[in-house]
Amino acid sequence: MLALQYALPAERGAALRARFDARGTAPSSLDASGVWRYRELVLPDASASDVVTHPEGNTPLLRRASVAQWCGVDALLMKHEGWNPTGSFKDRGMTVAVTQAKRIGASAVACASTGNTSASLAAYAAQAGLPALVLVPNGQVTLGKLAQSLAYGARTLLVRGNFDDCLRLAREAAERFGVYLANSINPYRIAGQKTIVLELLQQLGWRAPDWIVLPAGNLGNTAAFGAALREARELGLIDTMPRIAAVQASGAAPFAASYRDGFSKRYTVQAETAATAIRIGDPASYSRAVRVIRETNGVVLDVSDAAILDAKAAVDASGVGCEPASAASVAGVRELVSRGVIRRGDVVACVLTGHILKDPEILLQYHARTEPAPSHANRPLEIEPELGAIERALKQGEVAHR
Ligand code: F0G
Repeated sequence: MLALQYALPAERGAALRARFDARGTAPSSLDASGVWRYRELVLPDASASDVVTHPEGNTPLLRRASVAQWCGVDALLMKHEGWNPTGSFKDRGMTVAVTQAKRIGASAVACASTGNTSASLAAYAAQAGLPALVLVPNGQVTLGKLAQSLAYGARTLLVRGNFDDCLRLAREAAERFGVYLANSINPYRIAGQKTIVLELLQQLGWRAPDWIVLPAGNLGNTAAFGAALREARELGLIDTMPRIAAVQASGAAPFAASYRDGFSKRYTVQAETAATAIRIGDPASYSRAVRVIRETNGVVLDVSDAAILDAKAAVDASGVGCEPASAASVAGVRELVSRGVIRRGDVVACVLTGHILKDPEILLQYHARTEPAPSHANRPLEIEPELGAIERALKQGEVAHR
């Protein structure tokens, strides 16, 4: 796998921080994008006319006491990447990959996806005027994601297989038919996703948190986070290295299994989890992610679907909300606190990778469930159109005491 080679900026430390800090968000400039604001570390030679930008990034760093308390830490920061234009962090990589596709005169772009990459590629390809082909596992993509891909106009192939089959097929198709592959094995994607970390560090006044916790599937983001931290340290943007915690779903945890073996062996599994975004059994960026965990003194763990859904319910009930895979990071924080790996006083930044509305079905199922009702269950009440029904609902405390 290729990494981008480019000259790092001449400035270091305070001078480079000042350069980034001086950039505002003026609407028509590249600085309006939370990706292109860091262009020296993304794609230094891109000219403004080449760039396909929505814009994207500029996502908030949220604090909610209830979620911190649920995890067992004093300071929890949630970097909400679901606030990107298509509702996931994929837009940060896609603005760069589609820009590059346009620059080299690609005739079409393609990807395999569990749903978010395809939604993002579809949108950016539409903006660039490029045909997009997306391969997704049939019956395993959430409603919101599939709807986006269709709405933005991508040719959408429902593959009778899993994500790993889709990725293999997409790679072969890219080779055979000469279409531009926009999966995270593409180094331009990784370059863009580095800005999640750069923007997070800038929001913290360039003081690194103790931990950065993220959900891990195909491991592109883990690779990108490590690359960003490596450069930030080398350039003197930060003085200390945060530890990375990569969190997988227990039914799709080949990377966690390798970690437990000291990375002596690479595993593949038949992936199964309710967090469909990370239902991946053979992660493509395995080697790069291993390096990242080693360099950051990081950890890899897996959490059950039940823990993911409870974490999601805690994030949702705080008014923030996220999709299931995103909540793996929050569940991971709670688990690491209970193991004594993360301490209560540590500054923990966890990344929420996707928007709550990406997966509406799972929400309706969760809140309708009985025997036993889940911890945050909030069942809707069907009523007759009369005031008495409202009075009874209020008395039951179903509405008043939430
Ligand atoms: N969270 C969400 C919401 C995702 O969509 C993904 C990956 C991840 C986490 C994991 O990131 O793969 O870089 O380790 N989604 C890909 C897709 C596979 O096709 O949308 P990763």
